[in-house]
This record gives sequence, C-alpha cells and structure tokens, in this order.
Amino acid sequence: MKTKFKQILDQFEIKGEPAKIEPYGTGHINDTYQVINSNTKYPDYLLQRINNQIFKDIPGLMDNIKRVTEHLRNKLDDIPGSEPEREALSLIPTKSGSWFYYETNNSYWRLYHFIKNHRSYDIVENPAQAYEGGRMFGKFIALLSDVPGGPLNETIPAFHDINKRLDTFYQTLESNSKKRTGKTKPEIDFVRSHGTEMGRILRLGQNGKIPERITHNDTKFNNVLLDQNDKGLCVIDLDTVMTGYVHYDFGDSIRTSANTAAEDEKDLSKVKMDINLFEGYAKGFLKETKNALTQTEIDNLAFSAKLMPFIIGLRFLTDYIDGDNYFKTAYPDHNLVRARTQFRLVDSAEEQFSRMEDIVRRICSE
Ligand SMILES: Nc1ncnc2c1ncn2[C@@H]1O[C@H](COP(=O)(O)OP(=O)(O)O)[C@@H](O)[C@H]1O
Ligand SMILES: [Mg+2]
Repeated sequence: MKTKFKQILDQFEIKGEPAKIEPYGTGHINDTYQVINSNTKYPDYLLQRINNQIFKDIPGLMDNIKRVTEHLRNKLDDIPGSEPEREALSLIPTKSGSWFYYETNNSYWRLYHFIKNHRSYDIVENPAQAYEGGRMFGKFIALLSDVPGGPLNETIPAFHDINKRLDTFYQTLESNSKKRTGKTKPEIDFVRSHGTEMGRILRLGQNGKIPERITHNDTKFNNVLLDQNDKGLCVIDLDTVMTGYVHYDFGDSIRTSANTAAEDEKDLSKVKMDINLFEGYAKGFLKETKNALTQTEIDNLAFSAKLMPFIIGLRFLTDYIDGDNYFKTAYPDHNLVRARTQFRLVDSAEEQFSRMEDIVRRICSE
C-alpha cells in the first residue's frame, strides 16, 4: 500500500491491519476507496476524500453526518429485526477524536465502516427496485423527523431554491458574456413560461403551509445500497443532508429513477417519465411516510416530479449560457443537451400529471 494512504489510515481508530486499498464505486463527487482488512475478523472500511470544491464547510458537513447517522442508529436500535450497523452509515473517529482528518494539502478525509454484501445500481431496472428506493428514502425522512439539537448546517446554500436559481439564470442571460444564447430560444421561453408555476413548493414553505424537514437532497438510486435479494439496506451519500421540503427528495428520485433514458440523451423521443416506475417508487415512499406527512405535502408530491427536472434543467441551461463553469462537459453543447432532456421530462410529467395524482391518492387511501 502506498505510504500516502498508510499515513492517512493511520490517523483513524482502525481495527486490524489494512491490507489493500482500491478505488471504489461510480460516485462523481468524492474520491472513494475500499480498504480491505488483512484480518477477516475485523471490518473493511470505506475511505473518502471529501470534495471541497463543491462543499465549502467540511466541519459543518461532517457535524451533520455525525448527528444524522447517530440518530439513525439510535432509532434503528429500537426497531426489532434491524441491523443498525448495516442499515446506517457509521463513521470511524480519528485517534484525536475528530470525525475527519485534515491533511495539509487541502484534503479532507473520512472513514466509514464498509457495508459488505451489498448491491448498488446506477439505473432502476424495474418497479420492485423503484419500490425499494422509495421505501428507503421515505424511511430516511421519517426517522429523521426528530433529530435533536436544532437545524443542520446548510452544506450548499440555497441548493434547491428556485427563486435564487431563476435570479442567477436571468442575470446570466442578461450578461450573455459568452454569446451562447443563439441556440437556446426555445429553452429560454420554456423557463419564462414555467418559472412562476415552479415557485409553488417554495411559496407553500414560506407561507408555512408545508413544514421544513431534514431531507437527503441527492436521492439518486445509487445512493441506496440494496442487499443480495435487492431489498433496501442503507441510504448513503449524506453530504447534502440538510433542511428541505419532502418534495425535493421525492421529485429528484422520480427525475433520476423513473427516466427511461440517460440524463444526456440526445434523442428526446426516448426521454419519458415511466409511470410504472413512478408508481413503484411512490408506493415504497408512502408506505414509510404517509402517516408522517401533512395532507398538503401529499397533495403536492406529484407536482414535485415536474419541479425537480425543471430546477436541474435550469441549472444546466444557466451553465451552458455561462460557458460551462460548473458541470463537467464532454462536448460543446453537452449542457444544452442535458437541459433539453430535463425540460422534456417536465413535459412528460405534465402529460401524466393527473395519473400521478390519482396514483398518490389511491396509495394513500389503501
Ligand atoms: N459505507 C459504505 N459501504 C460500502 N459501500 C459504500 C459505502 N459508502 C459508499 N459506498 C459506495 O461508494 C460509492 C460512492 O460513495 P458516495 O458517498 O455515494 O460518493 P459520491 O458522493 O461520490 O457519489 C457509492 O455509490 C457506493 O457504491
Ligand atoms: Mg453517491
């Protein structure tokens, strides 16, 4: 093992002796490594270098993760048949009692127990898997409804704030410093015609009609580990856990898990929100949350399937006009292609809106 990794691992309270370390998984944000123990009696570990380009307050972020994982394990302890060590992430402290290690070259490292024998999928393959994803993210919100100690730190300020995203878009459009608006008229018109409608969730929140909750905010399917029988096991990737509305989590899952095509599919005829995957996800999610959510929250779940692709599409479009500063791109129009895909998803959700609402109503009355 490279001395660099040896030196880092040596900072943590590890049991046994690390034998091997290898890059792990398909995450796009952090640098992730599996650490295999030489002694099989002891756990393997998951080492991550935290992305401090995206996350500016790592101590605040790690404090959130510590509070949330501790709370989850305490709650799971009281649920018969649960395995808290497999169903929630566990951080390993450093020898000096911190939850992360700051290396001198501006690198922040953290260590988790490695959850063995899991499965992980980037793409949902069927409604049964969608159900498990929904059940896990629903349970996550339900278990975190009573975390003590006040609000969590905001790890990315105004992350899903539609008003701020729209403001940034219009400012970028106005300056048009890269002269890139030539091809984007239909997309700009789309933003103009949908912007007000999309403020609905934020308005409900600001008017006190829906409560703030602790939400995950990155509810992609590969942020749930499944067990060997494809049953939901553990929600992972907690960097964006902070205060939000339930609709952010529900809508972003539908956006990513019920889309029939890739995020950057150029052939828009392939891009569709799959109603069967929507139904599977909604069933799992509401199984865990329908008693915890208010009627107004439930009444607006279907709407969130329009909101989240709109927000993400807006961000892709803004970045395109701004000259691709935020999202990594593989070719010049990549961000524009992505924005079109997201706006197509908004339309697809709009076309199936009353069916989605019926599904949510039916599940809640069962
Ligand atoms: N505690 C863990 N045990 C086993 N595998 C994990 C654990 N945490 C993360 N992983 C794996 O590592 C990958 C990347 O981790 P994640 O925290 O999601 O990083 P990113 O923010 O880069 O997506 C996950 O998709 C999953 O496959
Ligand atoms: Mg991830």
